Amino acid sequence: MKFGHFDDKAKEYVITNPKTPYPWINYLGNEDFFSLISNTAGGYTFYKDAKFRRLTRYRYNNVPVDNGGKYFYINDGGDVWSPGWKPVKADLDNYSCAHGMSYTRITGERNGVEAEVTYFIPLGTWAEVQKVKLKNTSGATKKLKFFSFIEWCLWNAEDDMQNLQRNLSTGEVEVEGSVIYHKTEFKERRNHYAFFSVNAPIQGFDTDRDTWKGTYNDFDRPDAVFEGEPRNSEAHGWSPCASHYLEIELAPGEEKDLTFVLGYIEVDKDNKWESKNVINKNPAKAVIERFDTVEKVDAELKKLSDYWSKLLSTYELTSGDEKLDRMVNIWNQYQCMVTFNMSRSASFFETGIGRGMGFRDSSQDLIGFVHQVPERARERIIDIASTQFEDGSAYHQYQPLTKRGNHTLGGGFNDDPLWLILSTTDYIKESGDMGILDEMVPYDNDESKATTHFEHLKRSFYFTVNNLGPHGLPLIGRADWNDCLNLNCFSEDPNESFQTTGNKKGFTAESLMIAGSFVLYGKEFIKLCQVLGKDDDAAEAQKHVDAMIEAVKKDGWDGEWYLRAYDYYGKKVGSSENEEGKIFIESQGFCGMAGIGVEDGLVHKSMDSVKEHLDCEYGIVLQQPAFTKYYIEYGEISTYPAGYKENAGIFCHNNPWIMIAEAQIGNGDRAFEYYRKVAPAYLEEISDLHKVEPYVYCQMIAGKDAFKPGEGKNSWLTGTAAWNYVAITQYILGVKPDYNGLSINPSIPSKWDGYKITRRFRGATYHIEVSNPSHVSNGVSSMEVDGKTIEGCIVPIQPEGTEVTVKVTLGK
Ligand code: BGC
Repeated sequence: MKFGHFDDKAKEYVITNPKTPYPWINYLGNEDFFSLISNTAGGYTFYKDAKFRRLTRYRYNNVPVDNGGKYFYINDGGDVWSPGWKPVKADLDNYSCAHGMSYTRITGERNGVEAEVTYFIPLGTWAEVQKVKLKNTSGATKKLKFFSFIEWCLWNAEDDMQNLQRNLSTGEVEVEGSVIYHKTEFKERRNHYAFFSVNAPIQGFDTDRDTWKGTYNDFDRPDAVFEGEPRNSEAHGWSPCASHYLEIELAPGEEKDLTFVLGYIEVDKDNKWESKNVINKNPAKAVIERFDTVEKVDAELKKLSDYWSKLLSTYELTSGDEKLDRMVNIWNQYQCMVTFNMSRSASFFETGIGRGMGFRDSSQDLIGFVHQVPERARERIIDIASTQFEDGSAYHQYQPLTKRGNHTLGGGFNDDPLWLILSTTDYIKESGDMGILDEMVPYDNDESKATTHFEHLKRSFYFTVNNLGPHGLPLIGRADWNDCLNLNCFSEDPNESFQTTGNKKGFTAESLMIAGSFVLYGKEFIKLCQVLGKDDDAAEAQKHVDAMIEAVKKDGWDGEWYLRAYDYYGKKVGSSENEEGKIFIESQGFCGMAGIGVEDGLVHKSMDSVKEHLDCEYGIVLQQPAFTKYYIEYGEISTYPAGYKENAGIFCHNNPWIMIAEAQIGNGDRAFEYYRKVAPAYLEEISDLHKVEPYVYCQMIAGKDAFKPGEGKNSWLTGTAAWNYVAITQYILGVKPDYNGLSINPSIPSKWDGYKITRRFRGATYHIEVSNPSHVSNGVSSMEVDGKTIEGCIVPIQPEGTEVTVKVTLGK
């Protein structure tokens, strides 16, 4: 069952039934200032950091699940309703919510009044604009009482929920004209405030939440709205809010536009006040003025739309399969930008107060985003590397506001350092910017310890070399990519975190996932050294990579697949000898992508085992058989019920590793079959089962052992976005940046006739046409660039500003 439809031309998903199986959300904002918005206008806004600079309040774990947001209410002669259906939930004659590229447009109609609200954050602006259009579609004059509503958060979202004995006394506001200012803690250490304005005279307002709605009412039944009378309340402590009240008269057919602006202002310490206790409002007024007419607002919307069209045109596919085209051209790229911005911080499953930017998460997010805005990827790489320790290891996470490593979580996830090699080499291949390697980058943010970025990569590589276990395989530490495989944790206390508890010294447990990653990114490191002419470094690194390959072949191969790990006792994990958890996806993916033992058929065998044991109707599950009891020596992975999350759920994040490994050995049919199973656009018809948004990937789909196989969870913020984008564009469709050009090596379903791609790369545009006359999956038989045949499958870098036509023919 569907709850809406794709509009590819407008790059929108249009929801037509407000009762989606779960709130289906969108993100506003591209840099610094962001909002989350659901299809019924739920959500919140923050500046840079969803924990430390939350502008508006939002309650997670709420009942109902999505309550609180950027609400509007219309009182039409006593009949009260909201354009987004919620919060009032009065039936609407028409409803739609179009989630587009960084904007959301919600339209509701009832009894001859149509209200359309477009929410967006203009480029380069620390403010959310809400453009409201009210139309009288009836034959009689309408006298409407119109209310806006948001609830202020007292900045630190975590403290806001906890420290009520203080917080219920600190709230402060100012109202001037049609602008409501939120200035809690401004008089002490905060040099920032927020405001909510409307570009029309108001006939009343409220800033004290409970006075406005009545202490015992919910957002669906505010007294002021239902009685049609604002209270003009001024908040002193308790819960400050901002609600404008406007009386609007509309003749039959008449339309009125209003613009609301929800903004954030930082002021100089010396320039905070206009007069005693009156804040300096000039900077806010300047922002408000930028959006005070409908023409100005429309111009900003147009800029935003042009910005996205340009970004997305970096890679454009025409395949004849509309679902594939919309994933590749629109939604997957869009989600890559969002995950790049948010890492794992703020979604409807991540509360914004738990996780910040992850060392491994952000490194991976970057590989799906780097082609869009390489300069931002560069900055991110330096931020990440700055949280590395001198021995090459790293903080697992850092806060976006401070860019400092998160001490509570600390480090010790031994896969972390290697991801930096991936993100940096992908960045250089995309941009050609070798200069990043000479940047001086600190360790643990201490400038006095800075070295070149190249040295950071070297230390990332040697961190693994210096941390090998008894079989010459990498020690796992707290965990590798799988945060829940905690082989040194041994926790019996339910109050301990699996991620930070290490009850055993980590000198024995080894990871085959890191082994694969070391070979894969070790080879990348070697190639980089060669490109730089650092032949000694390359030769030295090669020895370590060769040794790792041998170690995997000797002690990491189980006969039909790669082992997953050795546990603390030196026992095999992910072996046919185990009772449960005999085969895991991560080591098949990583050792497979690294091509370990491919010459002896190991990769082929491993892929066949994945097909046989892990594949199911909805994707590839993480391991089999699922754990049915708690294994203290494995940690969190065995705590989940069978079929969920890391315990044999379909972790969409590592499905593309298998797609890539399959594509590399020429199995285009299988690679694409796996792609289709998890790509959301192909799941739209089963939205009622899938539950989460059909336009973005989710982290996990319940696996075959689950109560409800196929049900998705944790949508939006997941490495799934970047990896699936890389799998489809670089390995299946086969267009991949390299140091010296654009490599083209497709691995596709054999029945495909061909497809076209336009790729902008280092300033030139490549029009690529792939044809498959003999219906093979893989193998370029000829390639022509502007009519000239070239050898191999790399199109050399073309001069900036030029356009070339590349004709690729597949065949034997
Ligand atoms: C985390 C990743 C981790 C994955 C598997 C995700 O929630 O963000 O860092 O690799 O789970 O445990």
